[in-house]
Amino acid sequence: MFTHLIKRAATVMEALPYLIKFSGKTIVIKYGGAAMENPELKNAVMRDVVLLKYAGMNPIIVHGGGPEINRFLKRRNIETEFVHGLRVTTKEVMEVVEHVLGNRINAEIVSLIKKNGGKAKGFFGKKGRVIKARKHLAKNKKGEPIDIGFTGDVAGIRYRFLQKWMKIGYIPVLSPIGVGNKGQSYNINADQAAEAVAVHLKAAKLILMTNVRGVLDKDGELVSSVNSDKADRMIKLGHISGGMIPKIKSSLDAIKNGVEKVHIIDGRIPHAILLEIFTDHGIGTMVEE
Ligand SMILES: Nc1ncnc2c1ncn2[C@@H]1O[C@H](COP(=O)(O)OP(=O)(O)OP(=O)(O)O)[C@@H](O)[C@H]1O
Ligand SMILES: [Mg+2]
Repeated sequence: MFTHLIKRAATVMEALPYLIKFSGKTIVIKYGGAAMENPELKNAVMRDVVLLKYAGMNPIIVHGGGPEINRFLKRRNIETEFVHGLRVTTKEVMEVVEHVLGNRINAEIVSLIKKNGGKAKGFFGKKGRVIKARKHLAKNKKGEPIDIGFTGDVAGIRYRFLQKWMKIGYIPVLSPIGVGNKGQSYNINADQAAEAVAVHLKAAKLILMTNVRGVLDKDGELVSSVNSDKADRMIKLGHISGGMIPKIKSSLDAIKNGVEKVHIIDGRIPHAILLEIFTDHGIGTMVEE
């Protein structure tokens, strides 16, 4: 008569090997703006993250916000362009980026974590100064330098500060806004920010949640694993483009710099994070050296 309850207990018990494996480990989750479009799913993702924390892991979130930034820019009639998947950030664009990422998305994620019983602390730009940044030096196809404004690269992460918050039970939530040495804000690609956080915190896993199943080949089929040779080839042939370029580059850098596992997964699948951590069936694309 307890059959279904016993089954449920068995399902919970199946998590034990993974709990042992990841107990105390840091897991960096990049939650892409593109996968955030459904509000119910957003809440469910944060519930999964809270579960990880109470299961003894140290999750930390770095979020994106591309689509919402685009909507805001459009509403204000501000045009933007992308160079190799990176946004050209003028002063006007930077104001919108800070407003959308910091005041809206970051605050919303923090409140969803709290609503689901977790403790969260939001950091962006000058708030916490977690990400130190410098201007990104871009080049055009001819190799000549071009100015892409307040688009930045990560110059450092205050990781000990983050560790302090994690130790006392908090889930840090980071917007990819860095601060330069003169106090100016820089817009950083969220995949690059997540990679830097994962490397500095020596993360066991970096999970990049996006709005596609993973890396797709030219026929739209899922590529289950990718290394740097394969990625270079796919980029050259134009089979990897746009926002997937910084994502792949950041993933490869993370692996090279000591992050144990990197996965690009579909954030639209319910419980995608739990499937990735608590089963052996890897979903999405695994990035290898
Ligand atoms: N080979 C490829 N496989 C999968 N997606 C690809 C590929 N080439 C280009 N893309 C594009 O990359 C996009 C994902 O990157 P994008 O930057 O748009 O989203 P995100 O990083 O999840 O969100 P955000 O930038 O807001 O954090 C996909 O929606 C797809 O259009
Ligand atoms: Mg992106």
